[in-house]
Amino acid sequence: MDVQSELGPVCDILLAAKSVCLLTGAGISAESGIPTFRGEEGLWKTYRAEQLATFTAFIQDPKLVWEWYDWRRGIIASKEPNAGHKVLAEWEELFPHFTLITQNIDGLHQRAGSKNVIELHGNIWKNRCIDEDTIFENHDVPLKEIPPHCDKCGALLRPHVVWFGESLDGSILHKSFQLSSGCDVMFSIGTSAVVQPAASLPLSAAEAGAKVIEINPDPTPLTGSVDFSFRAKSGEFLPILDEELRRRTKQKKG
Ligand code: OAD
Repeated sequence: MDVQSELGPVCDILLAAKSVCLLTGAGISAESGIPTFRGEEGLWKTYRAEQLATFTAFIQDPKLVWEWYDWRRGIIASKEPNAGHKVLAEWEELFPHFTLITQNIDGLHQRAGSKNVIELHGNIWKNRCIDEDTIFENHDVPLKEIPPHCDKCGALLRPHVVWFGESLDGSILHKSFQLSSGCDVMFSIGTSAVVQPAASLPLSAAEAGAKVIEINPDPTPLTGSVDFSFRAKSGEFLPILDEELRRRTKQKKG
């Protein structure tokens, strides 16, 4: 899709929208230097998900799993939010009803300034007690103890993230579907759109009549069902879209 010729129609739709909803994935953090999961350089090329991202793997070898998360926490802590994260943080003020849903656990949206982020897959900066489900925020890099234990009861702590074979938090999921199926415009940004149930959010928006806009350098299973698909990096494309939106808003105000 030609970026310049499609920018106008997308801006028109956005300026008329009462509510805007976004789903982001690992691709939005790629330009910050955080590895995605799939693709040539993806984490799942080098590491086996079933050895590191399941509860069974964790119980069998908590030290190994925690070492992997400690390594990932170190990478994330050394990186900064990029221009794409920053635009989305500013959009909280631009649109009256704005919802940012992310599959990412890196916390970069919040570091860019986003205040209301729905985290579908948890957050790598939170640890959870496997006995009592108490959640502790922890920003130590590296972790002081591997594997870490609960300060209150001594049980093992696990990363507060969703692993393969686990269900997403029911209330977070319900809210996400409610918001995506009630919006006028839905974005799908930097996600391969293959992991369920997240991948169904843009489809539920489309079914309810929203315009769906995808931003991704590569096509995905969603591409054929969206209204606009921009083959672009989000850190490059979002600032261009933002500038054009603001220019038109100013023009409108006269
Ligand atoms: P993936 O790694 O599956 O997909 C990342 C997507 O980002 C790909 O489609 C890339 O083409 C795209 N991409 C790469 N660079 C980009 C850029 N600069 N701008 C925009 N897009 C870019 O990541 P997710 O779709 O987020 O789950 O993966 C979904 C879930 O699978 C993750 O949340 C994780 C993983 O297993 C859990 O850990 C539960």
